[in-house]
Amino acid sequence: MRTDRTFTMLKPDAIQNGYVGAILDKITGAGFKIVALKYTKLSKEIAGEFYAVHSERPFYGELVNYMSSGPIVAAILEKDNAVEDFRKLIGATDPAKADPGTIRQLYAKSIDANAVHGSDSDENAANEGNFFFSQFERF
Ligand code: RTP
Ligand code: MG
Repeated sequence: MRTDRTFTMLKPDAIQNGYVGAILDKITGAGFKIVALKYTKLSKEIAGEFYAVHSERPFYGELVNYMSSGPIVAAILEKDNAVEDFRKLIGATDPAKADPGTIRQLYAKSIDANAVHGSDSDENAANEGNFFFSQFERF
């Protein structure tokens, strides 16, 4: 049986606010295995490419500026039903609407600075993981 994978980024606010350890602990505590992990900073060009699916949305410019404003942590995560379970763990896009105990409710302040990214489908999870990690960076 294939174990599912998803992709996440801890966004610049999570790094700035010192929540990397707490968020990774929450993720592994929920049963996700870390397959790949990287601390890096996106250029505007790379952030624009990563979020190209949103290029027609009104918030695209702000999103790209924000995601390139400071370092991020990228990771590939493994668990049964990874994509759906991880979206549940992070909570709604707007932290004000996120369920109690979710990562965004606990660690995020606004819809822009919402602490974490989580892939929204198996296909995007694979594409996003491949965008950041080579085959030699997965364990
Ligand atoms: P993500 O991709 O980061 O996991 O977030 P998401 O699926 O919950 O939300 P998505 O619709 O994919 O939007 C990507 C990011 O764009 C910002 N956003 N701003 N002002 C707005 O109405 C708005 N909508 C989305 C958020 O930072 C969101 O995480
Ligand atoms: Mg999304």
